[in-house]
Amino acid sequence: MRLLVTGGCGFIGSAFLRHALAQPGVERVVDLDALTYSGRRENVAELEADPRFRHVQGDITDAALVDALLREERPTAIAHFAAESHVDRSLFAARRFVRTNVEGTLCLLEAARGLRDATGAEVRFLHVSTDEVYGDLETDDGAFREDTPLDPRNPYSATKAGGDLLALAFARTHGLPLVVTRSSNNYGPRQFPEKLIPLMITNALEDRPLPVYGDGRNVRDWLWVDDNCAGVWAALVRGAPGRVYNLGGGNERENIAIVRGILALLDKPESLITWVKDRPGHDRRYAIDATRAREELGWTPAMPFEEGLARTVRWYVDHQAWWRPLRDASFEAYYKAHYGKLGLPG
Ligand code: NAD
Ligand code: DAU
Repeated sequence: MRLLVTGGCGFIGSAFLRHALAQPGVERVVDLDALTYSGRRENVAELEADPRFRHVQGDITDAALVDALLREERPTAIAHFAAESHVDRSLFAARRFVRTNVEGTLCLLEAARGLRDATGAEVRFLHVSTDEVYGDLETDDGAFREDTPLDPRNPYSATKAGGDLLALAFARTHGLPLVVTRSSNNYGPRQFPEKLIPLMITNALEDRPLPVYGDGRNVRDWLWVDDNCAGVWAALVRGAPGRVYNLGGGNERENIAIVRGILALLDKPESLITWVKDRPGHDRRYAIDATRAREELGWTPAMPFEEGLARTVRWYVDHQAWWRPLRDASFEAYYKAHYGKLGLPG
């Protein structure tokens, strides 16, 4: 396999690069990443010595660059992770989400189709989508299945649904051998400290307030990042073309339970918990039915949640040199403006 990965310097993409390079029969792995605020070259530092690996800094919306890279590298497979990924940022910077998540996805699809048409060689395409495209569940609503109608409710999930549907349209209309995964919330090392788990860990380590939205009882299903990568890999190599696979951890938790768990692991007081206004359009609950991935791909998540959370907390304690520089002036400005609106004091 000659593999092109987009967004490989991000949280999940970098874990996927490590996973891919450990698989047999992988000749070449090229990472295309624009290195936005959440893309970190240090996330792939340990891979740079591998002669099969190449990092290219570039934007997936740059059609000329993407075309040239595909013609040079001739990948036999593409795993597309690059995205604007944070719901809260999409509330005030939606245009960038449309550009990367919709136009960038289209650009890659067209380049894959162009390479196939020019060379006759198939390029397997794995599009990384999200469970958020299904919208919102009430507490007793069951779980998302692959045939649950899409009902995205915030700008992030609307643009992810746009990319997801374009990808499936290219499978149908242009016959691209393309598979989509829709996973639940990932957690683990190297997640940018703006998402729930790393934000709460790093704030607690700095004795700053832990901002909990609304009543704290929104539910997410947590999936260990390496389990997601194993599922994405299985879908890339074994998934049926044109098919969608849900990937979930089977770990539904209320946000407040996660926050309390982190404080307990760090031996920090619950007085750090600060209730702020709710996220506008806040989805109440996500839950995944991953039966299809289990039956057709033979995939099941392996990491027990309590062990994964403890490992994640330990990673942030041990890697302060990784996250402290990320909480720079631009992060502070984002943090103050966003949480200021939601009611975080000072
Ligand atoms: P992330 O924000 O950590 O990483 C995104 C990466 O994409 C970064 O390296 C960034 O530099 C790169 N990127 C952004 N715009 C780009 C552009 N225009 N051109 C090239 N590179 C660009 O995100 P993540 O959490 O690792 O998410 C990866 C993928 O998984 C996304 O598609 C996301 O929608 C999806 N997903 C994430 C989760 C989760 O819980 N984090 C769950 C389900 C699905
Ligand atoms: O479900 C998959 C999605 O999970 C991915 O597609 C997204 O890329 C990823 O960011 C994630 O989206 P969420 O909105 O679920 O994740 P986030 O970590 O932002 O928030 C998780 C929950 O925690 C959510 O209910 C909002 C709440 N929250 C979040 C933050 C950042 C808080 O209460 N306080 C916070 O400060």
